[in-house]
Amino acid sequence: MFKHLIKRANAVLEALPYLTKFNGKTIVIKYGGAAMQSDELKHSVIQDVVLLKMVGMEPILVHGGGPEINKALRRKGLEPKFVGGYRVTDKETMKVVQKVLGEKINQQIVSLIKKAGGKAKGFYGKKGRVIKAFKYWKKDADGNQVDLGFTGQVGGIRYRFLNKWMKLGYIPVLSSIGVGKRGGIYNINADKAAAAIAAYLKAEKLIMMTDVLGVLESGKLVSEINTYRAEKMIKSGSISGGMIPKVKSCLYSLRKGVKTAHIIDGRLPHAILLELFTDHGIGTMVRK
Ligand SMILES: Nc1ncnc2c1ncn2[C@@H]1O[C@H](COP(=O)(O)OP(=O)(O)OP(=O)(O)O)[C@@H](O)[C@H]1O
Ligand SMILES: [Mg+2]
Repeated sequence: MFKHLIKRANAVLEALPYLTKFNGKTIVIKYGGAAMQSDELKHSVIQDVVLLKMVGMEPILVHGGGPEINKALRRKGLEPKFVGGYRVTDKETMKVVQKVLGEKINQQIVSLIKKAGGKAKGFYGKKGRVIKAFKYWKKDADGNQVDLGFTGQVGGIRYRFLNKWMKLGYIPVLSSIGVGKRGGIYNINADKAAAAIAAYLKAEKLIMMTDVLGVLESGKLVSEINTYRAEKMIKSGSISGGMIPKVKSCLYSLRKGVKTAHIIDGRLPHAILLELFTDHGIGTMVRK
């Protein structure tokens, strides 16, 4: 008579070992790309994050918004520019980044979390000044410095401030906009921002949600990648564009003491729960 209910109880119980393992642990989730395009997927991501908080983990959301920024730029007649996966951010582009990431996407995620029954606090740029930044000078293949405009690099994270909000029951939601010493704002690659936050908070896990299965080689999923293989694939060009900062950020976070880093497919409903509550996980696991 209660068969189906018992089945449901068993399904919940299967999560118990993972709930015990990750209790109180910080899980930094980078959310971007196509996974953010559909309302249904957005809803499933938010539900997962709220659930993690409710069962005693400490999730933090860091979001990008590349496709939406590109769309907004094109509407203004501006063509998005990238060098080695990093956006070239001139003054006009910075204004668009601030609007799309900070004012639109950040607030949208915060309100979705609230609707799903969680407490969220949004931070971006001067709001909270969580990410300290300075100008990022990229080097090209010949070692020459490339000027990426207002594209920044993480100089520090106000992690105690973040911790305070987390202890009060809030899920921090961060746009990857940093503030410089003189008060200027910088556009930071969201993967790098997420990795820095994970490192400063000594996170258990860094989860990069993207719009592909994980790292792909000749179209096939690479389920585990280490520094050696990643460098080889970057050199050969089989890892390119936005996947370069993603893999590099994962490796950086691991060097800084984050326990595990994963690149997973945000198009898959409940990808976060699948990653956390199964032994093998999904996507690509990055190792030192
Ligand atoms: N070897 C590879 N495996 C998988 N994806 C790759 C590879 N090389 C390049 N890519 C590209 O990297 C993209 C993911 O990075 P991208 O920066 O575009 O998205 P994101 O970081 O998820 O989102 P956002 O930049 O909006 O935060 C993939 O969609 C794919 O086109
Ligand atoms: Mg990206």
